[in-house]
Amino acid sequence: MSQQVRAVVARSKGAPVSLETIVVPDPGPGEAVVRIEACGVCHTDLHYREGGISDDFPFLLGHEAAGVVEAVGDGVTDVAPGDFVILNWRAVCGQCRACLRGRPWYCFATHNAGQRMTLTDGTELSPALGIGAFAEKTLVAAGQCTKVDRRASAAAAGLLGCGVMAGIGAALNTGSVGRGDSVAVIGCGGVGAAAVLGSKLAGAARIIAVDIDDRKLDTARRLGATHTVNSKESDVVDAVRDLTGGFGADVVIEAVGRPETYRQAFYARDLAGTVVLVGVPTPEMKLELPLLDVFGRGGALKSSWYGDCLPSRDFPMLIDLYLQGRLDLDAFVTETIALDEVEKAFERMHHGDVLRSVVLL
Ligand code: APR
Ligand code: ZN
Ligand code: ZN
Repeated sequence: MSQQVRAVVARSKGAPVSLETIVVPDPGPGEAVVRIEACGVCHTDLHYREGGISDDFPFLLGHEAAGVVEAVGDGVTDVAPGDFVILNWRAVCGQCRACLRGRPWYCFATHNAGQRMTLTDGTELSPALGIGAFAEKTLVAAGQCTKVDRRASAAAAGLLGCGVMAGIGAALNTGSVGRGDSVAVIGCGGVGAAAVLGSKLAGAARIIAVDIDDRKLDTARRLGATHTVNSKESDVVDAVRDLTGGFGADVVIEAVGRPETYRQAFYARDLAGTVVLVGVPTPEMKLELPLLDVFGRGGALKSSWYGDCLPSRDFPMLIDLYLQGRLDLDAFVTETIALDEVEKAFERMHHGDVLRSVVLL
């Protein structure tokens, strides 16, 4: 058995996405079918469409999503039909070397649904990040569903499934930002703005937002930045040092993913401080630093994969904080759109007009 639903598909490299009818199989063992309520538009979706991630077209796009479990397959016990869930791309296996060492947020063997969704002619689809949620319904591994409080807005909750979690987690999990710390965040798009919010939640005393776009700096201020630096107008390293008694920040979060901004992060950090790279570089980028500075400045240079999040631990907790009014996830939802407006949302994203456009279904 299977069912047909509408979905946004990228058929070939660089071509505009199209609205298609897709076939969603009934869930097999360990799988779940989720009725999607909301799904954010992320750079990674555009990246798939441009062929920047792989050549496995056609792609079923969308991965920052929340919805309601419609059906589960054999052996699924963690979620049940009717549960309101956020989809994640880290369904931990419990058995890989990271999981066995008690560090499941690094799980090296996360899994997706075993069956494939298809076009009506039988062509197999590649779901973005193993999710594919610009669709009325999608098939995932049950471990990709994390149950959260139903009272949360689906548009805001879904964003925790990717970019916003990456930013919050870069501050809380990877950077271990603590009470009284000084933090600088370089690049304040969806991910960086979330890092600002996470730093505020952690009790950082000074949060310096850095961007080249004043609109992003305004948003960062609304989310908790205590200072802003437009790096087109001033030198980032000097500015961060000036704002931290001449020393640099305890934690600098790089949320752009470029060598030049990484270098700024490296030098804008205090001795023995931490740099967190959450921006994703491209394969041709190279970084050169004096090795003596890497040694002499001490501290930690870390990468943050998906905010080093553990969905089962972090999603329900963050949703609770959101419902208590302590975590403004709504601020990331710049606009809500229909399923056939994803292509337009890509354009707005490209121009930096939005933190997130969210498709409501
Ligand atoms: N210095 C400071 N800020 C910059 C610079 C720069 N040289 N170049 C770009 N920016 C800012 C942009 O103005 C924008 O506000 O970085 C921000 C990037 O934000 P988005 O384009 O909205 O991207 P986002 O979704 O936040 O993702 C950021 O993390 O997950 C990765 O692949 C993603 O590498 C990307 C990064
Ligand atoms: Zn594992
Ligand atoms: Zn994403």
